[in-house]
Amino acid sequence: MESRTKARVNVLLTSRAPQRPFLLALCVVVATLTIYACNIFLTSSSRGANTRIHRVPRNAQRILQQCAALKAIPGPQADFYLRELSDRFEEGTKPTLIKNAHVWTGARNGTETVVGDVLLSGGVVKGIGYIPKRLLDDITDFITVEADGAWVTPGLVDLHSHVGMLSAPGMSGTFDVNSRHGPILPWLRSIDGFNTHDDAFELAIAGGVTSAQVLPGSGNAIGGQAFMMKLRKTSERSPTSMIIEPPHNLNGSEADGPLRWRHMKQACGENLRRYGNRMDALWSFRQAYNEARKVKREQDDFCSQAQAGLWDDLSGQDFPESFQWEMLVDVLRGRVKIANHCYEAVDLDDIVRLTNEFKFPIASFHHAQEAWLVPEVLKRTWGGTPAIAIFASNHRYKRESYRGSNFAPRVLADNDISVVMKSDHPVLNSRYLMYEAQQAHYYGLPPHLALASVTYTPSRAAGMLHRIGILAEGTDADVVLWDSHPLHLGATPRQVWIDGIPQLGGSSKPTLVLPEKPGHTWKEIPHVPTWDEEREEAVKYEGLPPLAPKKLFKGKVVLNNVKEVWIRTGEEGIKERWAGKNGETGTVVLVNGGIFCAGADGWCLSGSKNDGESHLEIDLHGGSVGPGLMTFGSPLGIEEIAGELSTGDGLLYDAYRGDIPSIVGDVGGVVRAVDALQFGTRNALVAHRAGVTYATSSLLKSTLFAGPSSFIGGLATTFRTGANHALEAGAIVKPATALHLSMGRTEPYIATVPIVSVSTQIAILRRLLLEGEDENTETGFWFKRAVEGSIPLIIDVGNADIMASLLRLKADIEDQRGGQIKMVFSGATEAHLLAKEIAQAKVGVILSPVRPFPDRWDNRRILAGPPIVNETALGTLLKNRVIVALGVQDAWEAGNTRFEAGWAALDSHIDQRQRYDLVTSNLEKLMGIEGWIGDEGELVVYQGGDAFNMSSKIVAVASPKRGVVELL
Ligand SMILES: *[C@@H]1O[C@H](CO)[C@@H](O)[C@H](O)[C@H]1NC(C)=O
Ligand SMILES: *[C@@H]1O[C@H](CO)[C@@H](O)[C@H](O)[C@H]1NC(C)=O
Ligand SMILES: *[C@@H]1O[C@H](CO)[C@@H](O)[C@H](O)[C@H]1NC(C)=O
Ligand SMILES: *[C@@H]1O[C@H](CO)[C@@H](O)[C@H](O)[C@H]1NC(C)=O
Repeated sequence: MESRTKARVNVLLTSRAPQRPFLLALCVVVATLTIYACNIFLTSSSRGANTRIHRVPRNAQRILQQCAALKAIPGPQADFYLRELSDRFEEGTKPTLIKNAHVWTGARNGTETVVGDVLLSGGVVKGIGYIPKRLLDDITDFITVEADGAWVTPGLVDLHSHVGMLSAPGMSGTFDVNSRHGPILPWLRSIDGFNTHDDAFELAIAGGVTSAQVLPGSGNAIGGQAFMMKLRKTSERSPTSMIIEPPHNLNGSEADGPLRWRHMKQACGENLRRYGNRMDALWSFRQAYNEARKVKREQDDFCSQAQAGLWDDLSGQDFPESFQWEMLVDVLRGRVKIANHCYEAVDLDDIVRLTNEFKFPIASFHHAQEAWLVPEVLKRTWGGTPAIAIFASNHRYKRESYRGSNFAPRVLADNDISVVMKSDHPVLNSRYLMYEAQQAHYYGLPPHLALASVTYTPSRAAGMLHRIGILAEGTDADVVLWDSHPLHLGATPRQVWIDGIPQLGGSSKPTLVLPEKPGHTWKEIPHVPTWDEEREEAVKYEGLPPLAPKKLFKGKVVLNNVKEVWIRTGEEGIKERWAGKNGETGTVVLVNGGIFCAGADGWCLSGSKNDGESHLEIDLHGGSVGPGLMTFGSPLGIEEIAGELSTGDGLLYDAYRGDIPSIVGDVGGVVRAVDALQFGTRNALVAHRAGVTYATSSLLKSTLFAGPSSFIGGLATTFRTGANHALEAGAIVKPATALHLSMGRTEPYIATVPIVSVSTQIAILRRLLLEGEDENTETGFWFKRAVEGSIPLIIDVGNADIMASLLRLKADIEDQRGGQIKMVFSGATEAHLLAKEIAQAKVGVILSPVRPFPDRWDNRRILAGPPIVNETALGTLLKNRVIVALGVQDAWEAGNTRFEAGWAALDSHIDQRQRYDLVTSNLEKLMGIEGWIGDEGELVVYQGGDAFNMSSKIVAVASPKRGVVELL
């Protein structure tokens, strides 16, 4: 063998004009066997005639291997798809045959659907569609699951997650996400801080999420190395064993086999403020990449000399390496998939210039709230256009996201740019990643791309398409079987397999834990409205389209093709005013913004036509009319941009942490939100256009990592979201609606500023309610009102034990001072544990969020809902006759109220009236404004479906009080 190769080299050398590259390649290939010979033969220097013999060093073989390896491109070996057994296979996993499914495979850009079976074996997909009998004959003892035509998709891939880094429940001991040690930290690895005990794994899997890219935070320009992880806990229980294809050098050993992709986080913009401004950040990038470029050049020069056999010129030199910069050298060699947090046009442009200066690709831009406005910039990225990973409707939380748009996914897709929907878990709960895709679809992203945005596209962006995000023979057996078409609101997995192992159903492992949603509609791709005009406007106005109604119409409006009409009444709350029998539709006539008649076509029209007036007709295509919805709990109308103090009310004095300045003249510092109201904020107008026409807001502002801004939030206020200013008639429904407090244990992530103890918080409340402050102060006055029950006392509280203390306190106070306190628990994650007691105490509950997450210790005992358990907190509270409403935490969320209520209804099996109650009359009862809005309240006109349905679009808001119909 050896001599034959040598001979061949000799032969080649004797022929004139040898092709040098070919020779080099050959030498590399045969390096292990013929290293000396090869190099001696290749010593004729490129400098010309002076041929001399070079001394070949002992480590030449290793050097040549290193040099050859520099050219390797990551990716699976050619026969990867033929594998019988996954490297992730767990002993004892039985093969599974899923029969008669509608399989959305992800292939052909998401357009392929296969009707048939799916065979999982050895942790690998072994067949899709028709499974030949011989395949099954080879397998003994497999589990059969009858899908009955249900939808099956690949397991979802969350391209942006901090699962395991910002764990649930949050603890200061697990805040391993941003390092403070400089802007450039490519040597850090997220895996080194990965907590295998995060409660979020199980929850995310219950939403069909099987893999995630676990990223360091965005506090650094280069925050460190990221890893693609499976969320299933392994039998080894280690972080390392959760990595999909650990990169070669992870533990210092050099594994064999093909090179694997590495992943890295970069960030730009506001989050880097700790280290200077945008200009500083870009200089730090350039400086770092320049260092890496030097190392890369040294390596390349070294290798061309070594490969040319010029060993004497290299004598005494080692292969140039930099332990510090090796990651960035790999970036420059195109072996790293970079996830780059980057929001604005300026930031995207900066990074795109950087990629061209240093010649490296970006796999995906994240958050990228202005990417949709600058497609041509994205296309100039060196090495190809990155995928864009975004939120569906979480916008305007900081200046960089102010121009974010629900239409961004579609606009990007229209520009041939790949769209990824991501969670940024725990910013959004990764469990509801599919909801992001559903919303993207609702706002115009075609269904195949919407499904691909949480499977195929993120997997491709991470270089993982040979394993995940797609179902094909040889890919990983990560599969979700759904209870409806996955793009329907509320779609829930009936089973999730990771590496062929079923994840739902606990130890008893029933094969499918939920029934299918009944009826054919649920199996079809949901029909969604068109938004062409709105989308064009959004682009035209660079993300800030006017949100005021297009037209205020004072005349008569005839609504045709109406399926149902619900109204708010003074006495009876929400009532069905009319509904078509057996799917028939009818007509509604609006006069002066109020319902003149509603009923079967002929009847209603005959009474209102022929009066010669000009009128407007709108075809609702099976739509409906309903009462304006209401929202509680966010700073809606108090601020424009959550992250910009200059757009909000500013800092609230906190009497629990320090004395209120004496000039306030009130020890409790109770102030009124109505004094801080701003009208025409974008969040309020977006909510208004989404049918949320009323809001109760307070000065209590709670943020994900910092908790509540103070404990006494003062007096919440109720207002109309569409009003132009505070002095407009009906703009303010009730100026001082409720006294609003917050209670809870120390915030997990702000360990340096421990808050006042729970026992002190309750002691303060006891004193304020029992003895009270002087009634001439705001604190004395309003707490006395609370004791009398003439103003509700709303307490943000998640923990059941604190709730129990509050129930005892309430009983005590009522015993001693008479009266009945109108107490409401908001947030109330653990309220289900005390449902009966809460009902007995006549305390109301505002669930916020309605689908719970154990973000902190206080909230850890969640009732997870389907598919983990059938029960929900909402269902449990309703069963115990607690008055329950829905709340939100952030102002942008108010716009999704109708979807939240629709989804809650599906999980908790409640009817249409109860859905409305959750976001109208129950909230009014709890706020003590029952009947205040009454039959003069705003009416919302839905085209194409009802209030809680993703087929519908709001086309008008009618106001009997103002005598107009707003055409949106
Ligand atoms: C998938 O989409 C990409 C990008 O738009 C395109 O280049 C490719 O041709 C498409 N492939 C198929 C099979 O349609
Ligand atoms: C180091 O990592 C490689 C590649 O993942 C693996 O094959 C090897 O077993 C690991 N060695 C140790 C000691 O963990
Ligand atoms: C949940 O309810 C469904 C019926 O709707 C039932 O088939 C299933 O067994 C229940 N699951 C549990 C865990 O009780
Ligand atoms: C939504 O409403 C439309 C129109 O009424 C109806 O055809 C569709 O089935 C509804 N979708 C769901 C999921 O209920």
